[in-house]
Amino acid sequence: MSLTLPISAATERGVAPDLTVVLPTFNERGNLEPLVAKLDTALAGIAWEAIFVDDNSPDGTADALRAIGRQDPRIRCIRRVGRRGLAGACIEGMLAAQAPLVAVMDADLQHDETLLPRMVEAMGAGADVVVATRYAPGGAAQEGFSAFRSFGSQLATRIARRVLGVTSSDPMSGFFMLRRELAEKLAPKLATDGFKILLDILSTAGEGLRVTELTYNFGTRQSGDSKLDNRVLMDFLGLIVSKATGGLVSLRFLSFACVGAAGLVVHLLVLKAALSSDLRFLYAQTIATFVAMTFNYIVNNVLTYRDRRLSGWRFLAGLLAFYLICGLGAAANVGIADWMFYETAHWWVAGIAGAVVGAVWNYAISRAVVWKD
Ligand code: GDD
Ligand code: MN
Repeated sequence: MSLTLPISAATERGVAPDLTVVLPTFNERGNLEPLVAKLDTALAGIAWEAIFVDDNSPDGTADALRAIGRQDPRIRCIRRVGRRGLAGACIEGMLAAQAPLVAVMDADLQHDETLLPRMVEAMGAGADVVVATRYAPGGAAQEGFSAFRSFGSQLATRIARRVLGVTSSDPMSGFFMLRRELAEKLAPKLATDGFKILLDILSTAGEGLRVTELTYNFGTRQSGDSKLDNRVLMDFLGLIVSKATGGLVSLRFLSFACVGAAGLVVHLLVLKAALSSDLRFLYAQTIATFVAMTFNYIVNNVLTYRDRRLSGWRFLAGLLAFYLICGLGAAANVGIADWMFYETAHWWVAGIAGAVVGAVWNYAISRAVVWKD
């Protein structure tokens, strides 16, 4: 039995690509055709393929891509279901790349595709990573950027450079190129839930990385909406903390802990209100505890676990499990604090230790039981 392809199929096979362009998409249907046309023009003379990574966009982006791919087999789409997240999408796209060089860029026409050939050249000249930057000397005009966003983005860049030692002028850029090999090596260590993928790559690869920067204009979005605006800051801070603590504290844990701190404020406010309406302390404290736990649950469901948000009966089942977990967490908290108090005789050491143990317990168990993968 021979596995040789029929002649016609073999001759119709395309050339192996030298460059894979990875394009994460969420509701970008209207941008696909112009984008593919632009890539085709910009990359004339380079053997390329494009891998779109779509998180099952409700606007039918994946179907539209299949239609384009039937005309042009260089265009493929990885369609993910049940998952959201820009970083994870980029990582999966890079790992699926066929070419030795991989570029990542947005699919909303805000990134200037005519830069790609120069990025390929810079890779040829020995760069490990080429970053398309908005801030390099010679400064790009900020067409697609509000003053507020521009300020926030530059502030974030400074923090990243200070805390992580990343030297790029635009580590927040979503437009960059690297060798597939490097992406494969780093992939297991990269966070899938943030979207500061380049910052993660640069800080994970560490020193000795040859980074070349090319300046471009960040264009204006023509169709669809930006999905990132409101979450930029939190995700960014989370990544910084995770990197700065050597992975000890994760994006999710930080978010969980912040929600917990907010929950404490809610608890105290409810307690105060309940006490002022002459309720017995025991009842007031019970009510405040349930309100705070419910608050924590809802906010964590919306923020911390937005990528696996529970709804319907799962939401209710999750809430009951969460009450149980927090109850046990409180017991652990009190037990540890009591023991520490005897050991150290410092009330605050004992208090903090109890709270940390309780928080870590609540986080670990609710993650394993309530918001499991
Ligand atoms: N697969 C997938 N999943 N794609 C996503 C998701 C997601 O959850 N969220 C956003 N995308 C896609 C969008 O469809 C778009 O192609 C690209 O990722 C960027 O998303 P935007 O929502 O347009 O982000 P932005 O313009 O605010 O910010 C982008 O550009 C900045 C400048 O380069 C991001 O790339 C930032 O990281 C970057 O700093
Ligand atoms: Mn955009």
